[in-house]
Amino acid sequence: MFDTMTMTKIVGGFCGAFLVFLLGNLAAESLYHTGGGHGGEEQAYVIDTGTDEAASTEPVEVVDFAVVLAAADPAAGEKVFSKCKACHKLDGSDGVGPHLNGVVGRAQASSDGFGYSSVFAGMSGEWLPEELSAFLENPKSYAPGTKMSFAGLPKVEDRANVIAYLAQTN
Ligand code: HEC
Repeated sequence: MFDTMTMTKIVGGFCGAFLVFLLGNLAAESLYHTGGGHGGEEQAYVIDTGTDEAASTEPVEVVDFAVVLAAADPAAGEKVFSKCKACHKLDGSDGVGPHLNGVVGRAQASSDGFGYSSVFAGMSGEWLPEELSAFLENPKSYAPGTKMSFAGLPKVEDRANVIAYLAQTN
């Protein structure tokens, strides 16, 4: 439990830090170049000519999620959602699981009348895309004791696509 919370904070921290880094990187670009004294900084300088700022950072997994989400395909997400349909509806009514229309940005465990597990009942966060991705990657490790009997979506593209699809139901 401790590890999950810690990881969640770290992941959140990285996402925030990544955005700050992108902006800072752009702003600092002109000041940064000191004549190529350090081999490792060559890359940051070269990127100056690029059009895709995301390409200028190292491929950390969290960064990948932000990038993948930006390119996510809701139509592909609808197909991924076929794995969820047995338990989740999108018409505002709860089934085996709580309704998921509007879930992106919704408070965690907030479908009134749904009987959440105690681990869920104790949650007070918000289902931002990064949280949804962390949960869907491995529900039982994100929320030990959850009632959601689902192995998880190991592929980051599947998670990003289904989140993009769910975001359309907001
Ligand atoms: C076998 C049934 C089942 C399947 C399949 C399933 N879920 Fe769930 N889901 C649940 C249950 C039950 C809960 C409530 C968890 C709890 O209370 O511990 C839940 C909770 C959730 C929540 C939290 C909602 C809230 O109100 O806080 C999200 C988001 C979610 N599921 C997404 C998905 C997605 C996306 C899929 C498909 C990739 C999926 N689930 C597949 C049963 C399922």
